[in-house]
Amino acid sequence: MQTELKQAIRDLIKERNAVLLAHNYMRDEVQEIADITGDSLALSQEAAKTAADIIVFCGVHFMAESAAILSPDKTVLLPRLDAGCPMADMITADELIKFKTTLPGIPVVTYVNSSAEVKAESDICCTSANALKVVNSLHDKEIIFTPDRNLGHYVSQFSDKKFHMWGGYCPTHERLKPETVKELKSRYPDALFICHPECNPLVTALADHACSTSAMYDFCRNSSAKTFIIGTEAGILYRLKLENPDKEFILASQALFCPNMKLTSLEDIYEALKTLKPVVRVEESIRLRAKTALDRMLAVPRD
Ligand code: 13P
Ligand code: SF4
Repeated sequence: MQTELKQAIRDLIKERNAVLLAHNYMRDEVQEIADITGDSLALSQEAAKTAADIIVFCGVHFMAESAAILSPDKTVLLPRLDAGCPMADMITADELIKFKTTLPGIPVVTYVNSSAEVKAESDICCTSANALKVVNSLHDKEIIFTPDRNLGHYVSQFSDKKFHMWGGYCPTHERLKPETVKELKSRYPDALFICHPECNPLVTALADHACSTSAMYDFCRNSSAKTFIIGTEAGILYRLKLENPDKEFILASQALFCPNMKLTSLEDIYEALKTLKPVVRVEESIRLRAKTALDRMLAVPRD
């Protein structure tokens, strides 16, 4: 049944000249049929350059919105419109405008896990893969960082700038506790602990390496270690295991499960491709301003 459905989706993708983008946290079967799996940065780069007419975004709302901002001439489908990101909902454009008035002249760096309206009020966006480079690309001595206080804290350790932090966080990553990691590290003394910078600072302080989801694949592939304790959303394990059959991956906690990232099923994708709904659109005046912040991010050299 799943095999037939997967084939029907692939057929529709071809017929519609569509591309299926999937975040690294998606269900295994969704990652399996995607044209491209990646982190937020890779997926937004793909959305900006794709030749497809239709982008089927398997991720959460802000990711599809970024695709709609970058590629206004494409139809962007988000198979589950209810797949949101609680962190993105932790700041509104009005709240950011108010915050900016208390810190006049200080540029705003906004994590892509945010709404189009918040991006429109920002100077530049970043993802977890390029946050330090983005921050360092600015000449200012102080920055406002929104909405993720944990990513902001992580980056601030490697920067001379003063960070004015918004207090948002990812409820999924925040659930990983330092005691849990310490206990696992003592149980597996040869294992490396790798986590996402969305984790609490007490957790990232214990990490052998903290990085974006896609950077984790490179790190684990290139490392001579055989066992890894993974501190990010469970969906990452699918490809880690597939690409490294001789290595062991231990999810640091069963609480590392993002319900929003797990909403999209094969049935939802099929339905979206068949009906060409639900479409994600961004109002033009917001889109243009949000695009400026995303374009500035995409122009920051990678190395
Ligand atoms: P990446 O930027 O590593 O893809 O992470 C996005 C995200 O939502 C993490 O929770
Ligand atoms: Fe948002 Fe966290 Fe889920 Fe990523 S894992 S989409 S930051 S709630």
